[in-house]
Amino acid sequence: MMSSAENHASRSGDRTAVITGIGACLPEHVVDNDAVIARGALRTDDTWIRTRTGIARRRHAAAGTSTGDLAVGAGRAALASAAGHRPDMLVLATTTPDHPCPATAPAVAHRLGLGTIPAFDLAAVCSGFLYALATATALVRAGTCSTPLVIGADTFTTIVDPRDRETAPIFGDGAAAVLLGPGHPDAPGAVIATDLGADGSGSDLITVPGGGSRHPRRPPPQGEPDPYCFRMQGRTVYAHAVRRMTESSRRVLGQAGWHPGTLGAFIGHQANQRILDAVAERLGIAPDRRFGTIHDTGNTAAASIPLVMADPAVHAAVEPGERTLLTAFGGGLTWASVALNWPDTAPGSQPPSRPDSASARAADLSRSPSWITTTPASAPAS
Ligand code: UT7
Repeated sequence: MMSSAENHASRSGDRTAVITGIGACLPEHVVDNDAVIARGALRTDDTWIRTRTGIARRRHAAAGTSTGDLAVGAGRAALASAAGHRPDMLVLATTTPDHPCPATAPAVAHRLGLGTIPAFDLAAVCSGFLYALATATALVRAGTCSTPLVIGADTFTTIVDPRDRETAPIFGDGAAAVLLGPGHPDAPGAVIATDLGADGSGSDLITVPGGGSRHPRRPPPQGEPDPYCFRMQGRTVYAHAVRRMTESSRRVLGQAGWHPGTLGAFIGHQANQRILDAVAERLGIAPDRRFGTIHDTGNTAAASIPLVMADPAVHAAVEPGERTLLTAFGGGLTWASVALNWPDTAPGSQPPSRPDSASARAADLSRSPSWITTTPASAPAS
């Protein structure tokens, strides 16, 4: 284990965590750019959004569908793809939990039928999945658990203001998960190295200012910006994202002893195609080794990287065992990178899973801010 004042990096020894299952869960409702523009009466157009972000469409969760519902679908899909393996821990990366209290992970574990395994949420915004993957890997290496289920799930449409043209076109909803098991660093799916970092001096650049202990929830004064909505200073964040993901990628590649030219796959946080291209160019990664879903999913926060890992098109293009670089950047500010061998695992997908009881559904519905208008549920209940 190596550490510095700014970052925390680790490289595998003889035993590491290996990905044995991958699954995704996307809401059925596809929302194209024109629909987002119409929904929020935004002063923008399809061409601006496509050329400045690379996004053409995204998924929006139906009314009453929560982050936990998407997480259960993703977890179920990952477990089906890993046939026979049973998780002994659950880590859920999310910024949009079902409730402020308690954490969403225990309910997800319960709904997946996992009994009383340890389950906790991890909040690192768009870096959340890689923070969770690095944490779960460290717990496997330490022997604390052996088969953790790591889920990235977010419903940013519940916190983004649909009238904000700087964020509403960017974000979508989704979830994806990987199941880990103990294994050798030579195995396909093995996590080789990790790098984590944070800089709280930029904590106001990506924020929901109200609703926490600093500014407890109360209605905003008339005419004032809603403090319960997500805000992002996009231009400043853009520069941080390029710099931090490039630096973190270099560190984790150094830890792994990999030259960027030897990578079989590069998957960056799906925030903006121009950011992804800038990072890949700086690292010297060929265009045909860069993979993403941003065109069809937008920015799904903690779900963004595992959704690419669950894309069958990526599995068709990358051979098991090929060197893979994952890198993310998000609110906090946080960043994280992981070097792993591309897994030998066919990904699965499942629809969102509805909670069993009517009271749970009512609790979920009452959580939606009044200005959010969503379509009726169309995904099958389970
Ligand atoms: O997921 C967590 C990490 N997040 C990120 O990494 C996101 C980083 N930021 C970005 O992806 C980009 O900054 C945005 C997509 C948010 C904005 O794109 P940009 O090309 O960086 O635009 P900009 O922020 O430099 O703004 C240029 C202009 C501004 O107008 P003025 O001040 O020059 O008059 C914006 O108000 O573009 C304006 N603008 C828009 N115009 C039309 C911002 N959003 C829009 C829009 N349509 N949707």
